[in-house]
Amino acid sequence: MKIEISKKVEKLAPSGIREFFDLVLGMKDVISLGVGEPDFASPWLVREKAIYSLERGYTSYTSNKGMPELRKQIAHFVKMRYQLDYDFDNEILITVGVSEGLDLVMRALLNPGDKVIVPEPVYVSYAPVVELAGGKAVSLKTDKSNEFKMTPENIEKLCTKDVRALMINYPCNPTGASYTKQELEAIAKVVKKHNLLVISDEVYDELTYDFDHTPFATLPGMKERVIYLNGFSKAYAMTGFRIGWACGPEKVIQAMTKIHQYTILCASITGQIAAQEALKNGMKSVQEMKKEYKRRRRFIVESLNEIGLDCHMPQGAFYVFPSIKKLKVPSMDFAKGLLKSQKVALVPGVAFGKAWDDFIRISYASSYDNLKEAVVRIKKYLSSSR
Ligand SMILES: Cc1ncc(COP(=O)(O)O)c(C=O)c1O
Repeated sequence: MKIEISKKVEKLAPSGIREFFDLVLGMKDVISLGVGEPDFASPWLVREKAIYSLERGYTSYTSNKGMPELRKQIAHFVKMRYQLDYDFDNEILITVGVSEGLDLVMRALLNPGDKVIVPEPVYVSYAPVVELAGGKAVSLKTDKSNEFKMTPENIEKLCTKDVRALMINYPCNPTGASYTKQELEAIAKVVKKHNLLVISDEVYDELTYDFDHTPFATLPGMKERVIYLNGFSKAYAMTGFRIGWACGPEKVIQAMTKIHQYTILCASITGQIAAQEALKNGMKSVQEMKKEYKRRRRFIVESLNEIGLDCHMPQGAFYVFPSIKKLKVPSMDFAKGLLKSQKVALVPGVAFGKAWDDFIRISYASSYDNLKEAVVRIKKYLSSSR
């Protein structure tokens, strides 16, 4: 039988990150600086609570929207931390990670042909979730000379009548770029002028190193047009628990909930119980991990520059995005060569689109010792290939 796959799905390119990491699978003693997840286990108190909940038989579905206790805690948390007011029952939805939030928000908002501005380089799912929802991703290429940040001017250039929304991610995967309050305020003016919605992915907010993180929804006049996505994966080292949240205008959250209840039903109860413990008692662990990431950031940026890879200082997350331009070699060849000869895995820039072939992404969510050894090996590789 000839099976036809949806045209939309056929058109999607497979994830470049996956393609490369299929090569890594099966190789021994590789130092992997490729993965986008913390090298720490979730805080012990969180794991203990999850174990205990299983022992006590908490294995059921929860409310579609997520456990009311967790939604209440999130409402309290964002109020205390950022002075953001969201009604726990109508304006907050618990999702299966920020990944599900991104998918839901696009499906809830877009009609065929609606355009969404997507910054580049960014997390690989952004353009696909727009396209799968029937929309069209309009790419905004950022620039190294501006620390990979969007500017009001380059956003405005793309604002045609059919652009409905702006996606923003800060601190950013893969560049680590983040925005000060003043920079965000300037972007908010353009958002208002062109009546855009903003999908703000702030999953790395706690990992902002050089200034305070400002949620987009806190800017004057923005709350009514921002869908604020966040979750537990990164700062709390809870990727496997798969818990995220979406806060936003009631109408949007209700629409997202409708899709969520038919497709997902609810996020796992174990994850939701673990997330409650994370909010209650996890901040100390978050701060300890943040301190360690900051130490590693400095080490990796300084070391890469010392061995001749031009690397800017990112302001958040746990990635650096050095340039390999002067080596004049495609990023996939560089990554494959390094993997084969020195057993260090990193992500070739081309995984984020052709425009990023002069870059590589290195995750410093790996132990300090691993990073030290990786730098030695990268140095060897650079001198052998000169
Ligand atoms: C910017 C960004 N958004 C969302 C996600 C997905 O996070 P989650 O585990 O909450 O689905 C990632 C994961 O790497 C990411 O880097």
